[in-house]
Amino acid sequence: MPESYDVLFASSNIHKYEEAEKILAEFGIKLSFFQTELVEIQDDSLSKIALQKVENAYEKCKKPVIVEDDGLFIDSLSGFPGPYSSYIFNTIGNNGILKLIGDNRDAQFVAIIAFCDSSNEPTLFESSVAGKISKNIQDGGWGYDPIFIPEKQNKTYAELADKNKLSHRYESLKKFASWFNNKQE
Ligand code: IMP
Repeated sequence: MPESYDVLFASSNIHKYEEAEKILAEFGIKLSFFQTELVEIQDDSLSKIALQKVENAYEKCKKPVIVEDDGLFIDSLSGFPGPYSSYIFNTIGNNGILKLIGDNRDAQFVAIIAFCDSSNEPTLFESSVAGKISKNIQDGGWGYDPIFIPEKQNKTYAELADKNKLSHRYESLKKFASWFNNKQE
């Protein structure tokens, strides 16, 4: 970890960190990567998962820290995979999702950012981006990037040069940044 930073980003996923680092730099917040495997409970609620993850992260680093928990909620699958998005990606992957999906391709990508510091009272920031699941898997990106088309776009996250300006991650980090910067004043 570098000497100077405002907040740690605890995750095993370097892609999430790299995007978060660029987004928060825009708001004057310096992030540093705390690469770690966090205990992740299985639960129907992304918020509960994020809360438990940030408590675990803070216990490990004892520094101001954020974690992120995401879920892809597909309308025709009654919100599946939602909180199980990570497990489903690692098992059936994007191919499996394309086989399961019905005619209605609407979906929401949800991001929860959870922050904790010495006050020991975690704060959560949630945002979602509506969109559609593409008919084919596109090249590039990571995770569900090759199949998620955010609303008002005709390309997947994987193909968009400005994903970081319109993603679910951007929206929830923007909320966090505004709260965090106010708190520092
Ligand atoms: P997690 O449980 O927060 O790690 O995320 C759930 C799943 O969504 C994981 O498989 C992630 O790789 C995937 N995911 C989260 N954010 C993104 C994104 O911005 N693009 C593509 N996949 C993502």
